This record gives sequence, C-alpha cells and structure tokens, in this order.
Amino acid sequence: MKYLTILCILLSFTSCREEEPGPKPHTLKDAFSESFIMGVAVNKAQYTSEEIEATNIVHKHFNSITAENSMKWQYISPEQGKFNFSDADTFVTFGDTNNHKIIGHTLVWHSQLPEWIHSITDSATLRNIMYTHIDTVAGRYKGKIHGWDVVNEAFNNDGSFRDTIFYKYLGESFIEEAFIRAEQADSTAELYYNDYNMTFEGKRNAVISMIQTLQEKNIRIDAVGMQGHWNLEHPSIEEIETSIIAYANAGVDVMISELDISVLPRGENPYEQELPEQIENQLSERYKSLFQLFYKHRDKISRVTIWGVHDGQSWLNNHPIDGRTDYPLLFDRNYKAKNCVNAILNIF
Ligand code: G3I
Repeated sequence: MKYLTILCILLSFTSCREEEPGPKPHTLKDAFSESFIMGVAVNKAQYTSEEIEATNIVHKHFNSITAENSMKWQYISPEQGKFNFSDADTFVTFGDTNNHKIIGHTLVWHSQLPEWIHSITDSATLRNIMYTHIDTVAGRYKGKIHGWDVVNEAFNNDGSFRDTIFYKYLGESFIEEAFIRAEQADSTAELYYNDYNMTFEGKRNAVISMIQTLQEKNIRIDAVGMQGHWNLEHPSIEEIETSIIAYANAGVDVMISELDISVLPRGENPYEQELPEQIENQLSERYKSLFQLFYKHRDKISRVTIWGVHDGQSWLNNHPIDGRTDYPLLFDRNYKAKNCVNAILNIF
C-alpha cells in the first residue's frame, strides 16, 4: 500500500511536470524555430562586422538576412552593361558562412534604379535589360539565395498598376516575365512578390488576382511579402489577420518581410531626446499582439523579417522628413534589447 502511494505521488509529479511550459526562450530565432524563419535587414557596416555590436545581435537573434540596400539595381549596375558585385558578394558570403537564410532584395523595382535606365524609351531594349539583369544577378547567386523578391511594389493602393518604367514599356506582363526569368536563373530559390500596404483591400485583390494569373499559367510564385511598415495603431490586428488568411487561401506562403513600427505622428519629431515610457509600453504591446498573431498563423507564415537591427539605423529616421528620431525596431541605439524583445519572448 505504502509503495502504491509513493508510486501514485511520483506519477502525479511526473505528469504535472510534463504540463509545465518549457523554459522561456532567450532569443527570437529560438522562440520561433518551430514556427517561421526570423530575419533582419542588414547594411554594409553590419555584414562586414564593422559595427560588431549590431553583427552580434544578427547572429544571436536571427537566422535570415536581407540586404537593406546592397542588392538593389542602382548599386549592382550603376553603369549600363557593367555589374559591380563587390558589396553583394560580401553580403552573400557573410550569410553563407554564418548559416543565415539569405533573402535577395530585389530584382525588379521601380525605385533605386540607376539613372541610365531612364534613358530607355522602347520595350525591346527594356525587356532585354530586365532579362539580362535577372539572369546575371539571380544566376550569380544560384543555390545560395533562399528566396528572391522578384517583383517589388508593382501596384498602387487601389489595385491599379503603378506607373513605372516597366509597366509603361512592357505592360502588365512584366510581372510574369520577371517570374519566369527568375525561375530559369535560379530554380532553387523561392520566388516572391513583395509590397507595402498589403492590407488595403484594392491592393490585396490585385495581388491575389496576379497570383491566380501566375498559377493559371503555371508560373511559380511561392510567397508574398507583406512588408509591414506599420505604426502603433494601423493597420489593426484584424485587418492584418484578414489579409494573412486571404493570401494564404490564394495558395502561397505569407511573409512579413520588412517589419518596423513607427512611433512618431506623421511629419513630427517629438521624442528627440528619449522615448517616453508610455509610448515604449505601447510599442511593446503592439509588437506582442503582432507576434501573437503571427504565431497563431504560423501554418501560413514562413518568415518574419525586421527592417533593421537597431533604431539608429532605421530608414524611418529620414522618412517622411529627414533628421527625425524614431524608435521602430527591437534594439535601441546602444544595441540594447528594448522591452519589445521581452514582450515577444514572454508570449511563450
Ligand atoms: O548611396 C547613398 C550614399 O552614397 C550617400 O552617401 C548616402 C547619404 O545619405 O545616401 C545613400 O543612399 C541612401 C540609401 O538608402 C543607402 O543608404 C538613400 O539616400 C536612401 O534614400 C536609401 O534609403 C533606402 C530606401 O529603401 C530607398 O528607397 C533605405 O535605406 C531602405 O531601408 C529602404 O527600404 C525599402 C525597401 O527596399 C522596399 N520597401 C520599402 C523600404 C522602405 O522604404
């Protein structure tokens, strides 16, 4: 009887231990290792380890990197017919050596194009140049890139086509052509469409219809990137959720590809010295709700990438006006993890 009692106590202790949650993860990549890839955008100082404190954060918390600028057309081909791969090569070697999944950003985008492209005024020349660019760039890194942002920001918020040089001379089919060419150049890479304001109904419908067109023509598209340049209130969690579900229902993976949360009222610069505690708490809550949502939909989401390592680096310090002090990222200007990081890790 005594032995039976002891056995019962031991059994209940064991089952009780099994129900306890595991230890809280210490890093973002560990927290979501079973859910999705955890990425970050890096700049040159970070992938050359010149800004070593930031590089250390990249290795500790993330398992994927996107070049914030170094793979853009403007930098890779500043002169017509010539390619300069020195920075992009360093970036890819850094990712490869450190076992990060490397995201190629971006092959066809109307912004950050070299000046010379704008002198082209006929479709045959532009098509030839777009094909050569995709072949050369995606071909060079064949087998090393986890996924390419093949086409970036082709639609307006209402779903109409953005008036770009590609649309002007090649028409709607430039998207299909780019995806076909990227598949031919590197069939091992995933292929993505990437855009902001992907929660807007007009843009969402246009992107879904583009996905369907590609699928009907057997042109591969693996995922869409909802960039995620958001603020403390907008878009709402419900709006984001509706869109994640809608894109997933169209048969592609969803990525949050450029996440940052601006805390500044548009056009103002009220927190030059420091971020008030109340706003910092709001930011933590916002990040927590977002990651709860991403975790809930981890069967649909393949990657979440934060658009920059630390607040000092963020493009939002110069947008929409120069010289602001924004606090949109997870690490502060002294490379310290902000409360947001704990708020996210505390989900577990
Ligand atoms: O290259 C020049 C350099 O020569 C000069 O010394 C320096 C001085 O300001 O400027 C450099 O260019 C800047 C470039 O970033 C590299 O630092 C540009 O002025 C600046 O406008 C550019 O901003 C980038 C922006 O894309 C351009 O559109 C941001 O860093 C980058 O975060 C941002 O990223 C985009 C994504 O690619 C696509 N989705 C939206 C996202 C935010 O705009």
